[in-house]
Amino acid sequence: MERIYLDNNATTIVDPAVRDAMEPFYCHMYGNPNSLHSFGIEVRPYLHQAMEQLYVGIGASDEDDIIINSCATEGNNTVILGFYFNLLKDTRKKHLITTQLEHPCVRESCRFLEQHGVKVTYLAPDRDGLVTAKMVKEAITDQTALVSVMWANNETGLILPIKEISEVCKVRGVYLHTDAVQAIGKLKVDLQEVPVDYLTFSASCMVASRWAAAGPAPSMCLGWSRWARRWSWPTPISPLRTPKSGACGTNWRMRC
Ligand SMILES: Cc1ncc(COP(=O)(O)O)c(C=O)c1O
Repeated sequence: MERIYLDNNATTIVDPAVRDAMEPFYCHMYGNPNSLHSFGIEVRPYLHQAMEQLYVGIGASDEDDIIINSCATEGNNTVILGFYFNLLKDTRKKHLITTQLEHPCVRESCRFLEQHGVKVTYLAPDRDGLVTAKMVKEAITDQTALVSVMWANNETGLILPIKEISEVCKVRGVYLHTDAVQAIGKLKVDLQEVPVDYLTFSASCMVASRWAAAGPAPSMCLGWSRWARRWSWPTPISPLRTPKSGACGTNWRMRC
């Protein structure tokens, strides 16, 4: 019986063009691009090229950090836990707003922070399945530090009003994170038009390689990786140590 795959929001097949573009880095050009020897040096320009494609692809500026990690689960964990442990822990702002629509990796990160004394508001969707900018505005208090709302929902396909939410957050001086896994590759995502503070996405949901995801994120934090099943410390130099960014970058070149 012929099987038909209909779960492309969970993960996609790797496009043969991506596989072919990555093949040299798995088989011949496998040096660490941070290394000073010729194996490393020959890879480095390709890595920079791939990172450049990522920056251009999402309209990120030179001041933005793009961190490559193993998946969006790790990326979302990195943003939410990293935000708390780096920026929030020692302040009086201990309120975070998210939605009941979020992927479990966002929800569970928020639950984890609740154990550390963070108050989390989980906004319920309206009868159309949406969380509006008005709902976010009404939920923000003087204690609110971060809003985390997904750009598009993985189950209903609904697109959330991230631009309006970003305007509300800007006026109130609150940081905004968006899980854009289901938006990137399907919708126009341009950080110049929709200025969010943190954005996460996954290569494996857009015909690129497994184990690769990215997003502007805090520079160093603790993350729980669903795929790798381990605690890890993504560092700012991780993009320079892996061919995974080649996978993302290749994908961007194909789509942009
Ligand atoms: C909206 C959303 N966020 C996060 C994830 C997790 O992505 P990953 O499988 O790369 O960890 C998914 C996966 O399907 C998703 O749809």
